[in-house]
Amino acid sequence: MTKTKLLIVEDDEDIRTQLRWALCDDYDVVTGGDRAAALTAFTADAPMVTLLDLGLPPQPNGPDEGMAVLSTILTLNPLAKVIVVSGQGENQNALAAIAAGASDFLCKPVDTDQLRLLLQRCVFLATLEQEYRATQRSGTGEVFEDMLGSSPQMQAVFDFIRKAAPSSAPVLILGESGTGKEMAAQALHRRSAQKRGPFVAINCNTIPENLLESELFGYERGAFTGANTQRKGHVEAAAGGTLFLDEIGELPVSVQVKLLRFLQEKCFQRVGGRQEIHSDVRILAATNRNLRELAASGKFREDLYFRLAVLVVTMPPLRERGDDVLQVARTFLHSYAAEHAKPSLTFAPDALRALTLHRWPGNIRELQNRVRRAVIMADGKRVTARDLELTESLSATPSQTLKEARENVEREMVQGALRRHSGKITSAAHELGVSRPTLYELLEKLGITKDA
Ligand SMILES: Nc1ncnc2c1ncn2[C@@H]1O[C@H](COP(=O)(O)OP(=O)(O)OP(=O)(O)O)[C@@H](O)[C@H]1O
Ligand SMILES: [Mg+2]
Repeated sequence: MTKTKLLIVEDDEDIRTQLRWALCDDYDVVTGGDRAAALTAFTADAPMVTLLDLGLPPQPNGPDEGMAVLSTILTLNPLAKVIVVSGQGENQNALAAIAAGASDFLCKPVDTDQLRLLLQRCVFLATLEQEYRATQRSGTGEVFEDMLGSSPQMQAVFDFIRKAAPSSAPVLILGESGTGKEMAAQALHRRSAQKRGPFVAINCNTIPENLLESELFGYERGAFTGANTQRKGHVEAAAGGTLFLDEIGELPVSVQVKLLRFLQEKCFQRVGGRQEIHSDVRILAATNRNLRELAASGKFREDLYFRLAVLVVTMPPLRERGDDVLQVARTFLHSYAAEHAKPSLTFAPDALRALTLHRWPGNIRELQNRVRRAVIMADGKRVTARDLELTESLSATPSQTLKEARENVEREMVQGALRRHSGKITSAAHELGVSRPTLYELLEKLGITKDA
């Protein structure tokens, strides 16, 4: 069996050798004597646990250098297990290190029995976390009509689509750019009674204002210069199916009147025509603008707004969808990696961290583009934050976020253990490698109730 890798960061050569001798039977020990050597070893050897002396040169008598190493290690891998070693009577430093994300601390001179125990606990915890991540990776997550999303927000959207699809009422789909509004429209169509009919999409923003009316409703021969033949519009083309009006907020007022009449009476006239034409079409509309506000300020007809907004669904932004970011990113990685014959690509820890920290203004579309590009750019087996062009998200990390990230992991693990042990504190604490009082403290800190 391969031994667990342990990094010892200690500037005193005697202590380093002594610790190495004490632990080398059970661990594969690598060492470093200063910040540079520590970080090189951490990236090169990926130790499961790091033992870190806070007093390192050039400041062997203060904690700053060690704290800097700790913070870089945790940025590189938020789940890294670091046990800090501080001088006698320097409890303040040890507490600061714990607050910054260290797993535990010891005071000098290090008692090797005590160290062995702490190491065992860290290894246990790290293994559990790795297993947990692996199960998450292997889980395919929720897919509904090709839409990915396990978050409660997306479950609510799927639930809405299931219920709204069979009705013939118009649906207004709101949401920021790239959140999947068009995908939702297609899902509504596929699950509707008119699913065998056509799905016709028209983007009100890309068609010049003066052409929009004739594009939608068609025109008669001679209706305007250049109208040499009669032409049917999208409303007729979509008969028996669904008409999806994308960017509805950009619809010119003149066309709004005509659309309102069509919604009320299911009848319209082609441009330049007199004949009343009937078309049975389900109308779906989408916009990333605040249509209610546009209506209130007179930029969009209020009566049309109420006609369109019989059923309204808002696609949640990616940054509010919790773990969906990682699930969707992994699914994209999987498929693009296969496409580019790089099937063993995975995300490096800094990439996972950057994916969680980024605010995703372009939502799923942005994620898709970044992962696609990263798969092409990635050199080895890992996609890094740099490949994703997300290194800025990492450096802009406020310290609060690290704490939040830790709490999220703690919450996931504690809830998982409680579930597995049907809420039994003793067995859950045992699995997590903490004492019962510590688990109780965690429950209180994280606001978890025992039977949640
Ligand atoms: N839940 C999802 N699962 C997988 N892929 C998704 C999901 N949502 C969106 N996508 C993908 O993201 C891209 C953007 O989706 P879509 O065009 O539906 O968004 P949109 O809200 O209409 O964007 P815009 O406002 O820019 O028109 C598409 O390539 C789509 O396939
Ligand atoms: Mg769209």
